[in-house]
Amino acid sequence: MSEPILDIKGLNKSFGPVHVLHDVDFAVRAGEVTALVGDNGAGKSTLVKCVAGIHPYDTGTVLFNGEPVHIHSPKDAGELGIEVVYQDLALADNLDIVQNMFLGRERGSRWLLDEASMEKAARETLASLSVRTVKSVRTPVSSLSGGQRQTVAIAKSVLWNSKVVILDEPTAALGVAQTRQVLDLVRRLAEQGLGVVLISHNMADVFEVADRIDVLYLGRLVAEVQTKDVTHGQVVELITAGRSGDLGLARPEAVAL
Ligand SMILES: Nc1ncnc2c1ncn2[C@@H]1O[C@H](COP(=O)(O)OP(=O)(O)OP(=O)(O)O)[C@@H](O)[C@H]1O
Ligand SMILES: [Mg+2]
Repeated sequence: MSEPILDIKGLNKSFGPVHVLHDVDFAVRAGEVTALVGDNGAGKSTLVKCVAGIHPYDTGTVLFNGEPVHIHSPKDAGELGIEVVYQDLALADNLDIVQNMFLGRERGSRWLLDEASMEKAARETLASLSVRTVKSVRTPVSSLSGGQRQTVAIAKSVLWNSKVVILDEPTAALGVAQTRQVLDLVRRLAEQGLGVVLISHNMADVFEVADRIDVLYLGRLVAEVQTKDVTHGQVVELITAGRSGDLGLARPEAVAL
């Protein structure tokens, strides 16, 4: 088992009086897909936003490659190589694929952008991820399908030398073929050596691409299992009840509201 590239220990997060994350331990390993699952409101997106520097966390430590780090802003997370692809994607509709991928990090001088080099890098990144459904990198994002947009958002996140890519429900709004594309892409990111986190409510997707499954239940990380060691039923039970046989909390009723 490889050492975690990102290792979160004892993370707590409250919004005012509401304690959302309780002593969460969560690890991401290079070359693996870790699924983060849990019911609506379990705290998945909040955990990701803490790691991404969007929400300050109250207590806890974050190790990156074994070294303690402080993540106080999205810039801190970006400098470590942690990229998050949010469900709402944050792509600019009026811009083309190249412009979106380089938004805020354009190459060239202030007066003359190096369009040729950006276009080449965008094309190469999409090719390295075996993305073939996008015909031209000069296509405006407004004319792309949901799956293609998701693909561009993911490619954008890997263009920046990322080490950890976190995908919050990347397939929630997609059809069968588009989901296929995105899941293939998720696997390819891990094969390229990145640590990948996949948040999903879709058990079929999780079981297909994840090496490991971490379950959040009412803000507590109740189980970290290898996908091959569990059944769909066990994971669903962990998600809904916090416990399944020997797995999960000993007394889930003690934490339930
Ligand atoms: N900015 C905020 N201010 C106050 N409470 C918040 C905030 N963001 C999230 N919460 C609360 O934190 C809890 C966890 O929310 P979170 O969005 O992390 O859940 P989730 O696991 O991502 O759920 P879903 O599967 O529905 O996306 C919820 O009870 C939510 O109401
Ligand atoms: Mg969420």
